[in-house]
Amino acid sequence: MEKPTEAFYSDAEHYWAKIPPTVNGMLGGFGYISPVDIQGSKVFLQQLFRSKDPPGKKYALDCGAGIGRISKHLLLNIFQNVDLVEQNPSFLEQAKIYIGPKLLQRVGNFFPEPLQDFKPEDNKYDIIWIQWVLGHLTDTDLINFLEHCKKGLDSNGMIVVKENITSSGEVEVDKEDSSVTRPLHLLKSLFEKAGLECYRQLKQTNFPKELYNVYMFALKPKTVLCEPSLEIHNFNQSLQFAQI
Ligand SMILES: C[S@@+](CC[C@H](N)C(=O)[O-])C[C@H]1O[C@@H](n2cnc3c(N)ncnc32)[C@H](O)[C@@H]1O
Repeated sequence: MEKPTEAFYSDAEHYWAKIPPTVNGMLGGFGYISPVDIQGSKVFLQQLFRSKDPPGKKYALDCGAGIGRISKHLLLNIFQNVDLVEQNPSFLEQAKIYIGPKLLQRVGNFFPEPLQDFKPEDNKYDIIWIQWVLGHLTDTDLINFLEHCKKGLDSNGMIVVKENITSSGEVEVDKEDSSVTRPLHLLKSLFEKAGLECYRQLKQTNFPKELYNVYMFALKPKTVLCEPSLEIHNFNQSLQFAQI
């Protein structure tokens, strides 16, 4: 990260403050890809619901939600309730209009907070959806945020990350919106450091060629099968029994 962290965040805040609260604004002028994006996400979620221990359909959290594009077209069609967290309060005001009065009845909370400061309520969410926003967090804050999200999952809950990925294998910096795009290996190592395992991964198809590759990841808390210290203890115990 070239810039000091404070400037990295405040520059992004200033950038988003100038962006119109529209789908086109949220997608950097590529508003027309929204239906294809949502369709790809639906297919991915359906795969997760068909898995062995599927997540529930009660509550989802939309992170870096913008004007609520994903809440409106994806999450509120599947989950009973959805919360939105977004750093720009005027996007959240627009979300109340964009989502529309009927679906709005099932939105629980609008949290006007940056993700680096946000802690989801414990054990609340079946799916925590994080799309096109992790590039605005430093590596350290990204790990911390995912650790907090992990605590926010209900049983069988999953975190879904949908992000741009570089094909250079390097981190690429966007000075205009103050974000980074990470290569696959780095993003996956950050998931690992947050104590998450990548349960399923899918590349988005049918996006324009000039855009970054986009991947979806379903992340679950890592399962610890047996404490190593316990294994040694048991091993010693069985040695003792063998000697008797
Ligand atoms: C590219 S838009 C994506 C919006 C939405 N996820 C979507 O796909 O329609 C990025 C969003 O992240 C928000 N954002 C940027 N930095 C953030 C941060 N540190 N915490 C929370 N939201 C942030 C911006 O205000 C903007 O709404």
